[in-house]
Amino acid sequence: MEEKDRITTPKRTSVDTDENSLRPQRLEDFIGQQELKRQVSIYIKAALKRRESLDHVLLYGPPGLGKTTLAHIISRELNVGFKSTSAPAIERQGDLAAILTSLEHNDVLFIDEIHRLKPVLEEILYPALEDYTIDIIVGQGPGAQSIKINLKPFTFIGATTRAGLLSAPLRARFGIVQRIDFYKPDDIYRIAKRSAGIMTAQLSEEGARIIAGRSRGTPRVANRILRRLRDIAEVEGDGVINEETCTKGLDMLGVDELGLDTMDKRLVDTIISKYDGGPVGIDTLAVSIGEDNQTIEDIYEPYLIQIGFIKRTPRGRVATKHAYNHLGKTYTTGPEGELFPDQG
Ligand SMILES: Nc1ncnc2c1ncn2[C@@H]1O[C@H](COP(=O)(O)OP(=O)(O)O)[C@@H](O)[C@H]1O
Ligand SMILES: [Mg+2]
Repeated sequence: MEEKDRITTPKRTSVDTDENSLRPQRLEDFIGQQELKRQVSIYIKAALKRRESLDHVLLYGPPGLGKTTLAHIISRELNVGFKSTSAPAIERQGDLAAILTSLEHNDVLFIDEIHRLKPVLEEILYPALEDYTIDIIVGQGPGAQSIKINLKPFTFIGATTRAGLLSAPLRARFGIVQRIDFYKPDDIYRIAKRSAGIMTAQLSEEGARIIAGRSRGTPRVANRILRRLRDIAEVEGDGVINEETCTKGLDMLGVDELGLDTMDKRLVDTIISKYDGGPVGIDTLAVSIGEDNQTIEDIYEPYLIQIGFIKRTPRGRVATKHAYNHLGKTYTTGPEGELFPDQG
């Protein structure tokens, strides 16, 4: 199965067409992430009070946890315009200059996947972020001239799944840096109920609780699962997404009690069966399961690490006792296991 076809992938896929309608519009409707909301709310109020643009914001964390949603919310709370693009979509310096010069006073400029911005474009961004100016080269050859253009003050919001890949100078230009973490089951429960309300789907208490436990702490996954279960409830049941629909449906969709699917299990099983539980390097692992490193690091690993199934060590990935137990394997501590004893 391809990564994009998994029901559990946290990445946005072609089935997530109603995502925009499910986005909370205001900070108070953004469920969970209490500490992040508390801080962001203070910074927004302070900026409004001073009638200044909000400091530049970096949002980082695994896919599907609400980075784009939060960027929208921030602009709405600030009552300013919102322009958005993603780093891979910006080709030339002129493209970025055009976006920057089009910004109105205190607008939010959101750039997704900011770790993929080309170095030549980063160069343009630095003075823009620092003192709202850009230097552009006009003309070619010996007649070429550099001219300085003043921009209106604006707030830059960058989002990334890989904060570690940002260059140090770019990172240093964000005054506000917020990590978005996986949600607690209670939060996913509330998100599922809210989304069901918007979709006018009938979701029972038990149903919501089951979805909460199997959505990998990821709102996007919860919303997707909810949609599929609604289909199943309508076709095979009485339309209510209840306990039976959820357990049967999720079994059918290949999502287990922890939210893991066959691909997750294959990854963990490969570490256990082929590499004696690890440590195994990410490159070797990638070749073994036929996925690229980035997909493993961005998509599979964060949740498996979060639930304590695998660990990152200096010598590679190690499967823990929990992982052995879940896959029904006997945990044996070989020489490697003793080097990396299970602490969970
Ligand atoms: N805190 C939240 N409360 C309610 N829904 C949320 C929350 N965070 C994310 N969502 C929903 O999850 C989906 C994915 O969110 P998104 O902002 O696109 O994630 P990201 O940009 O981090 O990949 C959206 O449909 C959004 O409505
Ligand atoms: Mg996004």
